[in-house]
Amino acid sequence: MVQKKGRIFSGMRPTGRLHLGNYLGALKSWVELQDDYECIYCVVDVHALTTLESVQDAKAIVPNTNEMVLDWLAAGIDPNKSIIFVQSHVPEVMTLHTLLSMVTPLGWLMRVPTFKEKLRQMKANDETVNYGLVGYPVLQTADIILYRGDTVPVGEDQVPHVELSREIVRRFNKIFGNTFPEPKVKLTESPSIRGLDGKTKMSKTLNNHVELALSDDETRKRIMSAVTDPQRTHRNIPGRPDICNVYSLHKIFNERKVNEIEQGCTSATLGCVDCKMDLAVNVNKHLAPFRERRTALANQPDLVQAILTDGAKRARKIAKSVIAEVRGKMGL
Ligand code: TRP
Ligand code: SF4
Repeated sequence: MVQKKGRIFSGMRPTGRLHLGNYLGALKSWVELQDDYECIYCVVDVHALTTLESVQDAKAIVPNTNEMVLDWLAAGIDPNKSIIFVQSHVPEVMTLHTLLSMVTPLGWLMRVPTFKEKLRQMKANDETVNYGLVGYPVLQTADIILYRGDTVPVGEDQVPHVELSREIVRRFNKIFGNTFPEPKVKLTESPSIRGLDGKTKMSKTLNNHVELALSDDETRKRIMSAVTDPQRTHRNIPGRPDICNVYSLHKIFNERKVNEIEQGCTSATLGCVDCKMDLAVNVNKHLAPFRERRTALANQPDLVQAILTDGAKRARKIAKSVIAEVRGKMGL
């Protein structure tokens, strides 16, 4: 067997069907990493509970997991190469989370940018901020090191979390002796896919996204609604491709024709409607094999279930030995 470069761990919250932004920002590199690393990919259902707003959110976890894992498989995450599992199916992660919380200063957690941002968003006070939310990065650390992950492919926004993981690991190793590797970030190069509104990151909550699993027709409708250069209020006015999100999508899905599109746009010989039509055709062409595989996978009843059960079994084997070692070192 070829020597692998290390062990990858990464996770995604069960948000249901994934979109172009999720694919280009994460999933695509997860697939590619499978050749060079041992990979463990996790649906982090417990993390989803840190921002639970209603019982409906909780009820959505299982169906959302199923939809998301279908996307993973159709994209090429291969259960014969990688371990694919659901976080809560290996309950040892909760044990490790609690034990790590004993070596994590509260100040470290309060300084995490994503936490501070969350506080701002929810107009937080002492009654609304859950203990679990504060501990989000501790649980994330437990995820990674429970499987002795040493490499963590994530986007820019997750870098502070992995940095914190390194600090927790360093502290643990210092007190109890060398036990865990310090996890390193592997940035998943993201061409920063903006949403169809052209302003922000593509996101399901903002409803500016294009789901991978849409039909060709639905895809076209979504793309036709995309915001283009706002100065181009009339077909005769030349456009500015460099500020137009449709153009940045052409760069990814219609590479061959970018020069032509730039020319047409800046000389006002190409209208936005035709430009978007062309993009939709190419996005659909690009996604056709994915969609075909996804339909075939979705038609196999219990397939996802079986893959996740097997994944949890394999993951748990690693987890159990790590927990035994940690308990011993921590005097339990
Ligand atoms: N916090 C990550 C996110 O919101 C998800 C996550 C949970 C994760 N555990 C992880 C990512 C471990 C990498 C490694 O996207
Ligand atoms: Fe954007 Fe295309 Fe319109 Fe130019 S022609 S502004 S690139 S949608």
